[in-house]
Amino acid sequence: MKEKLLQEFFKIFGREAQAVYFAPGRVNLIGEHTDYNGGHVFPCALTIGTYAAAAKNVDNTLRFYSMNFEELGVITADLSSLKKEKAHDWANYPKGILKVMLGAGYPITSGMDIVYFGNIPNSSGLSSSASIEVLTGYVARELFGFDVNFVELAKIGQKAENEFIGVNCGIMDQFSIAMGKAGHAIFLDTANLSYEYAPIALKDAKIVIACSNKKRGLGDSKYNERRGECEAALAKLQTVLDLHSLGELSEEEFEKNRSIIGDPVKERRAKHAVYENQRTIKAVAALKANDIEQFGKLMIASHDSLRDDYEVTGIELDTLVSAALSQEGVIGSRMTGAGFGGCTVSIVKTEAVDAFIKNVGEIYKGKIGYAADFYVVDAGCGPYTL
Ligand code: GLA
Repeated sequence: MKEKLLQEFFKIFGREAQAVYFAPGRVNLIGEHTDYNGGHVFPCALTIGTYAAAAKNVDNTLRFYSMNFEELGVITADLSSLKKEKAHDWANYPKGILKVMLGAGYPITSGMDIVYFGNIPNSSGLSSSASIEVLTGYVARELFGFDVNFVELAKIGQKAENEFIGVNCGIMDQFSIAMGKAGHAIFLDTANLSYEYAPIALKDAKIVIACSNKKRGLGDSKYNERRGECEAALAKLQTVLDLHSLGELSEEEFEKNRSIIGDPVKERRAKHAVYENQRTIKAVAALKANDIEQFGKLMIASHDSLRDDYEVTGIELDTLVSAALSQEGVIGSRMTGAGFGGCTVSIVKTEAVDAFIKNVGEIYKGKIGYAADFYVVDAGCGPYTL
């Protein structure tokens, strides 16, 4: 991979890159739409992700090129006037993070030329955008030699997404990418960013991702809408409870007070946030106790809640999950990421993986009309230099 990136850099920019860097994608095992509600998440970084070959240049210009979007050619931007531009498409992510870093005073003292290559499917819910953000922050840190720790890098990535891109996301994606650890998932409390690594000891099972190939499309605006609904529900609850976030509520406290929300839709959104947070805590306890079956049941309950109460699944993801659950050797299955398209994650007994991919693939294509893609994945580590 290193050679491929170095060659492409030379081809595009006619000079040598200084180095090649990598940042992973991520998959969330459980804890969906909890990160902006002060709840817990349980994602892991992947071994697939985004690569960049990069070098500083002597002017003030950023030059970005993606091997995944060759048709867009080299995208240039002036370091001192970075703003979101529709025509810049994917390059708004690196622009965003560099703008936030400059605003925070990090000494990015010249332009850079960067060639990217990603092997995460785009718009799939595996965080290709957060991967590019964290990677670009890491590239800047390495090229200019300043100090920024990985938690800070995650926060900067989230800020870029919120303020530059305009998606009001939580911290999960950038955090799990920056802080990934091979063989482990991260049990993160988004209320205070305390975290713990938990080994993914699945014994005779694998993590299988199914990509629906339905692009997120309107997802970003729906995402912000869900977040707004949760905030409105919280504001109602705060009229009677001393509460900072929905993540502070137990199921019992929620049931006792839910009628205060006074709107059936917002009540269901809040219910998901509260129950999903509790499910995540229970799921990590189950994994630690080696009770994979219980972990799987909680994954299934998570999907049901995302479909019925949070309403972020859709026919494609529901088809993938119901097809998965009709197969032999499937321990659990659910949508992962923001929803509205993207991927599912399933835990499948190793000996059943081939049949799973074949059968779920056939059912999906038969019902939806186009194919899904499957990836058997491992938990990988955070950013590094190759
Ligand atoms: C997207 C966001 C995350 C998180 C998930 C849903 O991936 O970027 O912050 O909210 O959706 O769990």
